[in-house]
Amino acid sequence: MGIKVENLRAYYGDKEVIKGMDFEIKDKEIVSIIGPNGSGKSTLLKAISRCLKSITGNIYLDGENINQLDTELVARKLAILPQIKNAPEDITVEELVSYGRYPHLGFGKKLGKKDKEIVDWAIEKTGLESFRTRNIITLSGGERQRAWVGMTLAQKPKFLLLDEPTTFLDISFQLEVLELVKELNETLNISVVMVLHDLNQAARYSDRILVIDNGCLCISGTPDEVITDRLLKHVFNVDADIYEDHVNKCPYFIPRKIAFSL
Ligand SMILES: Nc1ncnc2c1ncn2[C@@H]1O[C@H](COP(=O)(O)OP(=O)(O)O)[C@@H](O)[C@H]1O
Ligand SMILES: [Mg+2]
Repeated sequence: MGIKVENLRAYYGDKEVIKGMDFEIKDKEIVSIIGPNGSGKSTLLKAISRCLKSITGNIYLDGENINQLDTELVARKLAILPQIKNAPEDITVEELVSYGRYPHLGFGKKLGKKDKEIVDWAIEKTGLESFRTRNIITLSGGERQRAWVGMTLAQKPKFLLLDEPTTFLDISFQLEVLELVKELNETLNISVVMVLHDLNQAARYSDRILVIDNGCLCISGTPDEVITDRLLKHVFNVDADIYEDHVNKCPYFIPRKIAFSL
């Protein structure tokens, strides 16, 4: 069933930041959102996850309008890794990951045996066993990012929204996070919507790419349909050479120069 977005507009005060978008995310799809800085990518994820209230239009999760679902129900279906994260200062990795279970807990809000097993699984999946009892403020940027990914995994969502999940990570952890996303998608049938900065990574790891520019959806399609001379020039302002990655069966490009000087 997936996610359906109809004529979505989002505002900060009077300023319209998402200017009427329509698209669908099908079940089991990995969709990347790419676009220049300030184009509205984080705002779009916030709107879909109901973190932003000043919106018009409709968003459906598996056919149900999110305005008619209660917050915990949305949180059981959909997890978001925000770009800017706020956490209480004095918590351990294990506690942060455990927060992912909260929408699933019944009255009393105590973690049961099954919840603890899921927390262990999320910690193992993100390679954080040796950091379990560490306070998150003592972690490096990359370790902290993995702890947040662990929290969204513990939520066991059907839809996973990731806002720049590879930021602060060195290249091996970037690949690890993206491989993990792919594995979760394949084994648990999670649909993933992620904002990525690296277009080559978006091309490699996505079924579809949505390109956003200035609050509008300008192109959507498979990596082959989207990674074109025209797009790289007019949206990203680079002249690039495009090649085929035969191993991963996707396009990749090498930027050569700025297309139009500012
Ligand atoms: N809390 C806010 N209040 C006012 N304007 C905001 C706020 N957050 C983002 N914006 C503005 O909305 C636009 C889109 O921002 P954002 O969605 O964060 O872009 P992206 O994630 O694509 O870089 C930008 O012009 C940004 O300055
Ligand atoms: Mg952003």
